[in-house]
Amino acid sequence: MFVAGNWKMHTDHRAASRLASEVVRLTEPDARVVDVVVCPPAVWLEAVREQVRNSRVTLGAQNVFPGETGAFTGEVSPLMLKGVGCTYVIVGHSERRQYFNESDAFVGEKVKQVMKHEMTPILCVGESLEERDADNAETVVGRQLTGGLGGVSLKHGNQLVVAYEPVWAIGTGRTASPEQAQAMHAFIRENLIARFGAEYNVPILYGGSVKPDNATDLFSQPDIDGGLIGGASLDAESFAAIVRAAADSARR
Ligand code: 13P
Repeated sequence: MFVAGNWKMHTDHRAASRLASEVVRLTEPDARVVDVVVCPPAVWLEAVREQVRNSRVTLGAQNVFPGETGAFTGEVSPLMLKGVGCTYVIVGHSERRQYFNESDAFVGEKVKQVMKHEMTPILCVGESLEERDADNAETVVGRQLTGGLGGVSLKHGNQLVVAYEPVWAIGTGRTASPEQAQAMHAFIRENLIARFGAEYNVPILYGGSVKPDNATDLFSQPDIDGGLIGGASLDAESFAAIVRAAADSARR
């Protein structure tokens, strides 16, 4: 099982350090059976790295530019993220696709650059409410997987994580039902097996209003391997409770 916290554009320096140190403390027993990742804003990566340094909690970034160095004002390269200690990088989050017009092809370049620098991309996919209502959810997610993973090959399953985050469930308090999420996860699993072969066990996370009180039902679905947590990851107790639900599911 795998649980990552996407802090988005929240926290200041002190709050980020405090949250990271609390996450380390509260997830300590469960981080033996769950991969626990925190993804703070880029400017706090270094401070958070200091807090997670001697723990099982690992560090992820929320975004990356698909190039090593150059005249790209304001951007952060995979080399820089690797240098500051990131193991994971979220790419193609729906907020990036929606507000910054990131295309499937651009997301695909990011995936390749992150892998080239031996970090693991957490590739986000997910349909809008309009797309779901028009019965296009699988078409959209299939297209996002093709754009994000075209030309990618795997040597082992740890090189890639996929997160299904239906746009209509993000920050809305409205989660996909466990059955809805499971159906899409099964579709994604089939797509990944057709693409890479059955030998790679790529974790598929669910994201969208995951909270301590719905995590157990979601994580008990056969194709849900964990969660990508937004709002609830800003509270160490809530985040740790979600990690505990993942650990209980792993131990079952
Ligand atoms: P919420 O958990 O706040 O709905 O956010 C989900 C998300 O976007 C994680 O990347």
